[in-house]
Amino acid sequence: MKTLINIGIVIIASATMVSCFNDKKPNYQYFPNMYAPVGYDAYGEYEVFPGQQEAMTPPENTLSRGYTIYDYENTTEGLELAKAELQNPYEVTEKDLAVGSQLYTFYCAVCHGDTGDGKGILVTREKFLGIPSYADPARNIVPGGIYHVQTYGLNAMGSYASQTNEKERWQIAMHVMDLKAALNGEPSILETALATQTADSTKVETTNSGANTTSEIEPK
Ligand code: HEC
Repeated sequence: MKTLINIGIVIIASATMVSCFNDKKPNYQYFPNMYAPVGYDAYGEYEVFPGQQEAMTPPENTLSRGYTIYDYENTTEGLELAKAELQNPYEVTEKDLAVGSQLYTFYCAVCHGDTGDGKGILVTREKFLGIPSYADPARNIVPGGIYHVQTYGLNAMGSYASQTNEKERWQIAMHVMDLKAALNGEPSILETALATQTADSTKVETTNSGANTTSEIEPK
């Protein structure tokens, strides 16, 4: 008899517990502290922040980590100056060329073509015109200029500064120089770099110290 009553109590208790369950509403949480985030949500609205925005503009005169100032102006003179004096701070390596080649395929090949002859798929479909070949002598394609036009864009060509970081733009520039060499029937830029390194060992040291200065600011 006692067991029957106990079983009865259990059945009634369970029925009461599940009867009000509504799967359209959130359930009760036991000690909810661990479920709700303690930090502020990205782009959330909170009174504690100026303008009630969690996302704030960086303080004046600060640079975000890994960002370097680009001093050349977005003008024809700026492009000419970058072509004349801006140098690739990174050493040309097989790995960087491979990354550059991949990024080039993503971002540039649709217009400039896989080989850099200016006949990408958008050109053959006549969606875009006036795209130069990297081998065009009148264009004087050099690393500084390639970096410059990726940073700012040039007329019909857009800027790639928001899609790529500084190093990636140099890696792409390396690949473009490689494409130019291939179009001109010259040896790859890796071969040329290795040849100059063995020919002139002092040059290697300058290149290396340049690379070290850059890596010092970058987090390892
Ligand atoms: C939407 C098509 C398009 C894409 C994508 C594109 N470009 Fe261009 N690019 C152009 C056009 C058009 C020009 C010629 C601009 C002019 O001189 O008015 C040009 C010119 C250039 C030049 C020559 C600049 C000079 O000094 O005269 C370089 C170098 C270049 N692009 C590199 C790149 C790289 C690297 C990428 C990928 C990150 C890229 N382009 C993506 C359309 C494109």
